[in-house]
Amino acid sequence: MKYKNNEFFIDGVKLEKLAKKYSTPLYCYSYNKIKENIKYFKKTFKTINPLICFSVKSNSNKVLLREIGKLGLGADVVSIGELMKAISSGIKPKNIVFSGVGKTPDELKYAINKKILLINAESKSEILEIERISKIYNKKVNIGLRLNPNTDAKTLSQISTGKKENKFGISEKSILELIEYIKKCKNLKLRCLSVHIGSQILDHRPYEKTLNVLERVLRKSKFNFEYIDLGGGMGINYSDNKKKLNLRKYCISIRKFLKKNKSKIIFEPGRSIIGNAGILVSKITYIKKGNKKNFIILDAAMNDLIRPALYNAKHRIIPIKKRNKKTNKIYEFVGPICESTDKFSTIKKFQELSQKELIIICDVGAYGMSLSSNYNVRAKPAELLVKNSKIQVITKRQSLKDLI
Ligand code: LLP
Repeated sequence: MKYKNNEFFIDGVKLEKLAKKYSTPLYCYSYNKIKENIKYFKKTFKTINPLICFSVKSNSNKVLLREIGKLGLGADVVSIGELMKAISSGIKPKNIVFSGVGKTPDELKYAINKKILLINAESKSEILEIERISKIYNKKVNIGLRLNPNTDAKTLSQISTGKKENKFGISEKSILELIEYIKKCKNLKLRCLSVHIGSQILDHRPYEKTLNVLERVLRKSKFNFEYIDLGGGMGINYSDNKKKLNLRKYCISIRKFLKKNKSKIIFEPGRSIIGNAGILVSKITYIKKGNKKNFIILDAAMNDLIRPALYNAKHRIIPIKKRNKKTNKIYEFVGPICESTDKFSTIKKFQELSQKELIIICDVGAYGMSLSSNYNVRAKPAELLVKNSKIQVITKRQSLKDLI
């Protein structure tokens, strides 16, 4: 995804052409970028040969799931819907892990019957429910236990999951008791110890701390876990500053951990696989001149991309056609929705913009479309995949007829 002669191209296709043909707001994904991210992830962790389960919540488009599956990844799911989508996209149940604090009996039954790799349980009540169902079906069920390591992931509080005040996982003390309980259950096979401390993590040290807690649990429990599931959370660079998670250091710590504990590592990355592979193209509906700033009113809104409104997340905005002349005006890029949080970014020194022009909101591949809604009875955007210059509509634009 880059500029050629000041025009933006995605996998060899001129983005302006796509926006004109398929209209806006429009999500576009680059196949090559997804492939490159997966290759980089695999290469970084090559020495530990992990099972990589793509976190479906970050992007649950079926065509993308199929492509990601073909590139060798399994899936991490958190609902029966995600599980069905993953399976129907060709991802094998033996490469699927199921997390979440509130799996319902129906969801558990479905997962058990599909014989997925692991149900990562998050409480004693859930273990008892899995045991009850496994007896009804007379099955031996593979389970994992999700530990709450009480580690601060040093990320946004809304997307932190590994501290004791969070609803996720089981405390160190309770997990030791549960391990003893499960050892005695005939229908349960404990295979995995899992963690996931949060999302958009840019500092490797919280991961190191988590590995220390895992090690302590392993030592105290004296149980041989076949799998250690380290979750996802690897952050990406949303801004121009070059802060990057040091995956190499994380890998070194894992290798040290594995010297004492011989388990297969599982990862559940979402954002680091798909985040920077997606963009949202939007058209300027109006420019409203204000006193101190000009409002650039887009046809995309918080229902299409809620991250800025929900987490105050920053996404770069760039023009589809680059011009050198910069203005001194302050531009505030907003959507048309009747909420003051329907705002994407405030930028000084952008190039002079005019009505009907197209802009690009960057790095929206993860938690963009998957968090979109029909708020204000707005139809959801279309999604395109560009693969080696070929264009595929992977989600049709919702029609108002669908909604009304
Ligand atoms: N595994 C589990 C159990 C998770 O809960 C999550 C994300 C992941 C893996 C994948 O995390 P990733 O590698 O994508 O960071 N909507 C928020 C992010 C919420 C993440 C929830 N859990 C956002 O837009 O930033």
